[in-house]
Amino acid sequence: MGDTDKNSPIGVFDSGVGGLTVVKELMEQLPKERIIYYGDTARVPYGNKSRETVIRYSREIAGFLCEQNVKAIVVACNTASALALDELNKSVEVPIIGVVKPGARAAADVSKKGKIGVIATRATVNSGIYEAYLKGKKPEIEVFAKACPLFVPLVEEGLTDDPITDSIIHMYLDELLEKGIDSLVLGCTHYPLLKDSIARVVGENVTLVNPAFETARSFKMLLEEKGLLSEGKEGQESENRNMFYVSDSPDQFRSFAGNVLSIGIGAEDVKVKAFAG
Ligand code: DGL
Repeated sequence: MGDTDKNSPIGVFDSGVGGLTVVKELMEQLPKERIIYYGDTARVPYGNKSRETVIRYSREIAGFLCEQNVKAIVVACNTASALALDELNKSVEVPIIGVVKPGARAAADVSKKGKIGVIATRATVNSGIYEAYLKGKKPEIEVFAKACPLFVPLVEEGLTDDPITDSIIHMYLDELLEKGIDSLVLGCTHYPLLKDSIARVVGENVTLVNPAFETARSFKMLLEEKGLLSEGKEGQESENRNMFYVSDSPDQFRSFAGNVLSIGIGAEDVKVKAFAG
């Protein structure tokens, strides 16, 4: 690691574009921070890969971000947070947080009946991590977890508001609704982009929990605690610009990022950095 200080950038990574939902929250809650984002668009999805592979990919990316002298890292991917955060904590020298713990904490706080649904990738669901954190917080909580693998391609195809999407949401979520859940964790970074459609299907008695919001809040507290809050200028002044790296086509990423973040992203703001395997 090189020299970092409070005005160094923060690193954020995801398997692809989904982590931009976390970037959006970070930009709102920490407008003075400069972000270096890495989206592993060539190797997405992580959600059906083994723990070993996700750890290897995450280590490569965290190493790359540290080479860019980031002062802290947000693992903006539920799958990488579930499978690789413990390993990264051992090898990365800068402070690092994931999205799972803050998301679980928010859900435990919000649920009145203690019946919580968790939707995520297969790898996250199989890891049992949300259940472990939720029950660690309140042992009486009942957790109903469901993998929703079709949600990621629906988002990537832009079908966030479409009758097909509604019927797939029903297919996955009706059984959770029958269990009487009163809150639902959107445990995959793509899912907040389906928020409106999911809300329509589950109705107003189920509170949706977006871990991105809680993660940005926790990250801000972490930076404060470590004396690492930036004193830089707000916004996208040229010397304080965010940078995006991807492992595949920058053009597709740029248009998706522009839509999610509602800001113009120039061609020079997105660069390709691929890893060997
Ligand atoms: N970003 C991943 C997550 O939050 C979803 C996409 C994938 O499977 O890689 O779990």
